[in-house]
Amino acid sequence: MQLDESLQRVLAHKEPIIRRFYDRFLSECPEAERLFAGVDLEKQSLMLTMALIVVEAYSRDSYPAVEHYLHVLGDRHRESGIPRELFTPFRDCLIETIRSSQPDDWDDELTTAWQRALDRATETMFQGYEGEFPF
Ligand code: HEM
Repeated sequence: MQLDESLQRVLAHKEPIIRRFYDRFLSECPEAERLFAGVDLEKQSLMLTMALIVVEAYSRDSYPAVEHYLHVLGDRHRESGIPRELFTPFRDCLIETIRSSQPDDWDDELTTAWQRALDRATETMFQGYEGEFPF
């Protein structure tokens, strides 16, 4: 299965599967718990699900609008005090959540495709951490 199909399956779920990600991530990564204190995880799951559309689009092309969005998103995460070191455990837990909802059609190439896509988006979010805005 390719990355775009995997994303379509995430979007096609009636219950946002990304909601499960937050339960998993917060239990696996206790230092993230204080960062999400008071955050509505239902709404947050929808925001992250929509951001995955952006992540997948950006893996295909450097659309300027997508790049701007990722800079702004990075700036927001810096303002919220999210440490950069948490992006790798966040990525791995997110991929594991998606994999566990699509176990039959998963292979190592798909893990690598999600890793590359999330790393590329993260790199651009980190430019936002540095205040590197193109506008
Ligand atoms: C590729 C990596 C990530 C993506 C695509 C992403 C995506 C998002 C999106 C779309 C939002 C909503 C922004 C808004 O309110 O407009 C958000 C908020 C947030 N994210 Fe992330 N995020 C990523 C990494 C992380 C990491 C590593 C952490 C912490 C461990 C984190 C913690 C948060 C928190 C605490 C909020 C704020 C929630 C609130 O105040 O309502 N994110 N993220």
